[in-house]
Amino acid sequence: MAREFTSVGVVGLGTMGAGIVEVFARNGLDVMAVEISEAALDRGRATLTGSTDRAVAKGKLAEADRDALLSRVNFQVGLDALHAVDLVVEAVPEHLDLKQRIFAELDRVCKPEAILATNTSSLSVTEISVATARPHQVIGIHFFNPAPVMKLVEVVRTVVTSAEVVADVEALCARLGKVDVTISDRAGFIANALLFGYLNHAVSMFESRYTTREDIDAAMKLGCGLPMGPLALMDLIGLDTAYEILDTMYRRGGRDRRHAPVPLIKQMVTAGLLGRKSGRGFYTYERPGSPVVVPDEQTPLATESAPADASPAAGTKVGVVGSGTMATGIIEVFAKAGYEVVSVTRGAEKSAKVFEAVRTSLNKGVVRGKLSEADREAALGRITWSASLDHLADVDLVVEAVVEELSVKKALFASLDEICKPGVVLATTTSSLPVIDVAMATQRPADVVGLHFFNPAPIMPLVEVVRTIRTSPETTATAGAVCAAIGKTGVVCGDRSGFIVNALLFPYLNDAVKMLEANYSTADDIDHAMKLGCGYPMGPFELLDVVGLDVALAIQRELYLELREPGFAPAPLLEHLVTAGYLGRKTGRGFRDHTRR
Ligand SMILES: NC(=O)c1ccc[n+]([C@@H]2O[C@H](COP(=O)([O-])OP(=O)(O)OC[C@H]3O[C@@H](n4cnc5c(N)ncnc54)[C@H](O)[C@@H]3O)[C@@H](O)[C@H]2O)c1
Repeated sequence: MAREFTSVGVVGLGTMGAGIVEVFARNGLDVMAVEISEAALDRGRATLTGSTDRAVAKGKLAEADRDALLSRVNFQVGLDALHAVDLVVEAVPEHLDLKQRIFAELDRVCKPEAILATNTSSLSVTEISVATARPHQVIGIHFFNPAPVMKLVEVVRTVVTSAEVVADVEALCARLGKVDVTISDRAGFIANALLFGYLNHAVSMFESRYTTREDIDAAMKLGCGLPMGPLALMDLIGLDTAYEILDTMYRRGGRDRRHAPVPLIKQMVTAGLLGRKSGRGFYTYERPGSPVVVPDEQTPLATESAPADASPAAGTKVGVVGSGTMATGIIEVFAKAGYEVVSVTRGAEKSAKVFEAVRTSLNKGVVRGKLSEADREAALGRITWSASLDHLADVDLVVEAVVEELSVKKALFASLDEICKPGVVLATTTSSLPVIDVAMATQRPADVVGLHFFNPAPIMPLVEVVRTIRTSPETTATAGAVCAAIGKTGVVCGDRSGFIVNALLFPYLNDAVKMLEANYSTADDIDHAMKLGCGYPMGPFELLDVVGLDVALAIQRELYLELREPGFAPAPLLEHLVTAGYLGRKTGRGFRDHTRR
């Protein structure tokens, strides 16, 4: 029989502690909420009432339930108030010496059978536990931010945590409506070990002005379906907390340079820009603690963003070269948006195939009620089919989507240079080749840009607009306006391997493979952790099986070769699976066996 907890304590009522109090009190537990000063106590109380009031306003919590919830919480200054509780969760700042001091004090104050838990994200639970005379009753209970919302809890057992304590805490998590994964004591556990390299990399992209904060966040939200972009997430976590987590993971996790905090983070912490809690971080908020972003000096001016009515001028012609999945999707997107499209393939047979594919896709839109039959016919009527590049002589824009081979693309761009009229924007959809190589195959590199669409193009809302060091501002602006005209969000970035999305996504996937390879956790638990702890639409292994392990390996190799970052070296397990022909769903087997499901 698992132990019944009736009263619990929470130490520290900041970003996490206040949310943890709410989770306990919502589930019928009496909570002793402890802070260091009256002022801090008031802030914690305000966070709790603010959050529960919002839940009432949204109809998620009845007023009577809120009142009952609040009546279960007792606020006190000082740890002495915790003498009678069955379990304590500590959520003070991420400093080992502070946590050790608090645990020594808790050991003195709390009753002998009480369980002492830490919400640390990156520190060693073992090192915290040895500050007490009861390390077998010390455990990690790692909640995710915001604690009342995120379903995951990582339960961290040290080599000395007793099995009963682990079982009691697992049962408690179930009572709180949480899904737990129980793991051993390693820096960053599952979720943060996979998350923080990505967050730090996103900050370095921002620091080096590779792209803007808005574009980084939009890219990850729209390109990967994440609930928030990395910089908005850093603001939610708190930059001081994020700094400490990165710093500890760097020191404990084998000095992986990707965890060495980007200098900008420390500068922002020193300047008091801590994120939402201080009202300013990467973004500016209405007031401290508010989730509402307000414009500041970095907010793009309305004139820089796309006009509201961005439909193409009548008769604007775009050429699309290629006959694969991407070309087919792109032809559909432009034709639907009102462009005249000239499709160029390598022959009538290919054109017929593309025509069928576009028609089938448009038909689906009709069946789903998203497109009228007349609109479908109009879109199809706007497409001309050709097997000769000469038909691109009078187009206003060319989008190339042929095979991902540099020699082929270069030859094509050299031909386009001869055929197309001057001033036309020439775009490549390459996802891994340097755009500048393609641009230099022409005599007009200023007019060449990358337009990186995502698959399936008719559905995915993001396009990365890749400008090389030779792309003119006019070309970039035109490319951005084209994205708006086809109903996509264009994010502008430099010409580096992986652009924004793949450069941030694939190292994270590769890290997940390394974690599996190290037997730290299972594919199921890692997938769970990222979905339930971070709100990802798919876990890394689910996603790898969909993307294709060969594709992931190729992208990861490119990133490694270009950036020479040791941490980007492809995971040996990924290479072995590819060699074995386990490429994911397309071959029936990848990380999972899809033939049995
Ligand atoms: N922020 C996140 O997204 C997140 C997520 C999961 C876990 N964590 C972990 O949770 C812990 C707390 O982080 P946070 O972001 O909530 O920090 P925070 O800075 O928002 O809050 C810390 C609180 O602890 C209080 N405090 C400091 N010393 C104290 C003492 N001696 N006694 C009582 N209270 C004291 C502070 O007044 C403050 O209110 C850290 O270990 C962090 O790594 C954070």
